Amino acid sequence: MYEISRLGPVFGAEVHGMDLGSELSGEQFAFVREALITHEVLKLKDQNITAEQQLAFGRRFGKLLVSPFSPNADEAPELIVLDTHRHGRKPLTDIWHSDETYRPEPPFVTILRACIVPELGGDTMFASMRAAYERLSDRMKTLISGLTAYHDFGRFDQLFSGDADRRKMLHEVELALPHPNHPVVRLHPETGRKVLFVNRHFTTRINELPDDEGRAILEFLLGRTGVAETQLRVSWEPNTVVLWDNRSVQHYAPYDYYPQRRRMERVTVAGAAPLADIESCSVAVPRMEVEGVPDQPPGLPEPASSPARPFERQGSGR
Ligand code: SIN
Repeated sequence: MYEISRLGPVFGAEVHGMDLGSELSGEQFAFVREALITHEVLKLKDQNITAEQQLAFGRRFGKLLVSPFSPNADEAPELIVLDTHRHGRKPLTDIWHSDETYRPEPPFVTILRACIVPELGGDTMFASMRAAYERLSDRMKTLISGLTAYHDFGRFDQLFSGDADRRKMLHEVELALPHPNHPVVRLHPETGRKVLFVNRHFTTRINELPDDEGRAILEFLLGRTGVAETQLRVSWEPNTVVLWDNRSVQHYAPYDYYPQRRRMERVTVAGAAPLADIESCSVAVPRMEVEGVPDQPPGLPEPASSPARPFERQGSGR
């Protein structure tokens, strides 16, 4: 019989007595899905499953995504393999993020399984962005309601630096996945609760505010992942599986275990375009008018247009 116990006062739970290697009955799967929506992060220990079984479990939630950036298995592109060791590259996951928000339709659930864990370190940290939103003052909630933010590839850009062929590859990924705007506050599609939806990895600016105000507000909002009361730290043993709902949490993988080896295998399930808390609002940026400063003297000609930039002239024959 399966059971559930909570991992923290705010979110997170552990499911006991469930074998993800067996074909879950409709009732068992509904239990896991419901528990995930309620608790946001689920941990299941002792899941000695194959990659095929992990992929099959992921497909119960929906379509699996193939990351354009993360290393994956030759035989199954949907399986991300994060194998970190002394001779490999540093992983790019030690930054707060919700997975793949550079997509117009960012993922719903991620399923991560530990294959090899370091003796010390290598936990994963989570922050509930539903709880983070709920702790904001009413004034701040009003200010950020209806804003949208721009998301790009963040650190993944680094993977393409250095040579023209690589930049061309990046351009092709950009054409396939144009950088999206997402609501700063999203409505969770199943609970209807409001969630703060900006993250340090992929969110670069708030669209409706002047640069300086937008940067300050964005920095404040990004810092909400650091509030200890709305965090959860999950430790791993080989064959621990953790699932999280990217629509309500962010995560951070501390890179504190070098030079020990840590190997994780991940499956990511597609989601839908985030719903905004209210219709997006455009906030007019005020022009600076200073009292007493004269208008231009009468008689000076009014230019009809501004000087062109070189790329604007291209194709005009000039
Ligand atoms: C990830 O960011 O998807 C990986 C998290 C981890 O390795 O703990």
